[in-house]
Amino acid sequence: MKILITGGAGFIGSHIAEAFHRLGWDVTILDNFTTGKRENLAGLTRTRENPFGKATGGEKSSEIAKSEENLAGLTSKRENPSEKETGGENLSEIATGRGNLSGIAGKVEIIEGDIRDKTAVAKAAAGCDVVVHLAALASVPASFRNPEETYEVNFMGTQNVLEAALQNNVKIVTFASSSAVYGDTDRLPIGEETPANPLSPYGLSKLLSEKLCRFHNTVYGLPVVVFRFFNVYGERQNPFSEYSAVIPKFINIIQNGGTPTIFGDGEQTRDFIYISDLVHAHLLAVEGALKLQPAKSVKPATNTSKSSAAYEATPLNLGSGEKTSLNQLVKIMSQIAGKEIKPQYAPPRSGDILHSFCKIDKIFDEIGFKPQTPMILGIEKMFNSRNFEN
Ligand SMILES: NC(=O)c1ccc[n+]([C@@H]2O[C@H](COP(=O)([O-])OP(=O)(O)OC[C@H]3O[C@@H](n4cnc5c(N)ncnc54)[C@H](O)[C@@H]3O)[C@@H](O)[C@H]2O)c1
Repeated sequence: MKILITGGAGFIGSHIAEAFHRLGWDVTILDNFTTGKRENLAGLTRTRENPFGKATGGEKSSEIAKSEENLAGLTSKRENPSEKETGGENLSEIATGRGNLSGIAGKVEIIEGDIRDKTAVAKAAAGCDVVVHLAALASVPASFRNPEETYEVNFMGTQNVLEAALQNNVKIVTFASSSAVYGDTDRLPIGEETPANPLSPYGLSKLLSEKLCRFHNTVYGLPVVVFRFFNVYGERQNPFSEYSAVIPKFINIIQNGGTPTIFGDGEQTRDFIYISDLVHAHLLAVEGALKLQPAKSVKPATNTSKSSAAYEATPLNLGSGEKTSLNQLVKIMSQIAGKEIKPQYAPPRSGDILHSFCKIDKIFDEIGFKPQTPMILGIEKMFNSRNFEN
């Protein structure tokens, strides 16, 4: 099986790439490296041992059995509904590299190219079974500075990716939308039915792209899963940029002996989801799509009665379903660091929303996803990772 991951050199893309690589899939990454980094792909391009022989290392890491058994690891776990919870854990294990399939590696191709370039996208998508579309200009403040480029990359880029997916008759596209489509709402927790009122060019570009996904599904029958990511955190998340998310930024400051700054009283809340949970949701979405439309050589699964609404580009919230205040976040970090961290407080920033956390029952009903990772565990893993060395 072959997967194209646009934006695969970024924070989220590199984790998804690793998970599919571990499952023995051929992974193609299309990235123009604006924010993505080659170091993020070290886990993919490193020479790997595999049970079928020595890997060759480098970009083409190994030519090994890419049999449907590899896929079975993905598809077998949820046949029995009573196994949902443990099945999830097993898939998470694969996602975090602790699964039995670690060490099995498919081919890796890294294409440096832009999703605005139709030829590059067509080349990258050739022969793919699955497309995970993540490439985007992903910063809200930057989108205010440069709305035109944000629309070009995020919207027209998505058009190119969907078109190429259609031409290749792929079994599923996943699209990375964002909680930014909701804007500021006092209807909490946020359900998917909440009216979308984006308050930034970035949020608008994601909402318009969701519509493109829905259009491609309705008019051309392309299966697309639209995920609205909430605040994703995890290893390899960049702490150094002016647009960095709060968790990597605070960890970096704390590890360097500094004091994190909270804008406002720290009681504002966010919905933080750990990266391996987000990867797990993608594995489940792909698994479900392959059950509905199995590859030619895969026997149709017996249980295909599951609703396919998720594959019709109706959005699914992808968050933890829990709210965490920034003050709570600092407490968790104090616990991990083993010392009390006293943040400094600054006046609230205009435009910052006060509360955001989501309902996650739809994503559970549609694809069986439930987050597994408590914040203390996810943040501890980040503390122990080495990505805070500039
Ligand atoms: N991280 C979060 O909390 C979060 C929340 C909501 C949505 N998202 C979405 O998830 C996706 C991945 O986000 P991330 O946090 O990994 O960000 P990231 O910046 O690390 O990854 C984005 C990747 O896209 C690449 N890219 C940018 N423009 C491109 C172009 N024109 N052509 C090809 N590649 C291009 C970048 O080089 C980078 O590797 C984005 O679509 C983002 O909007 C992320």
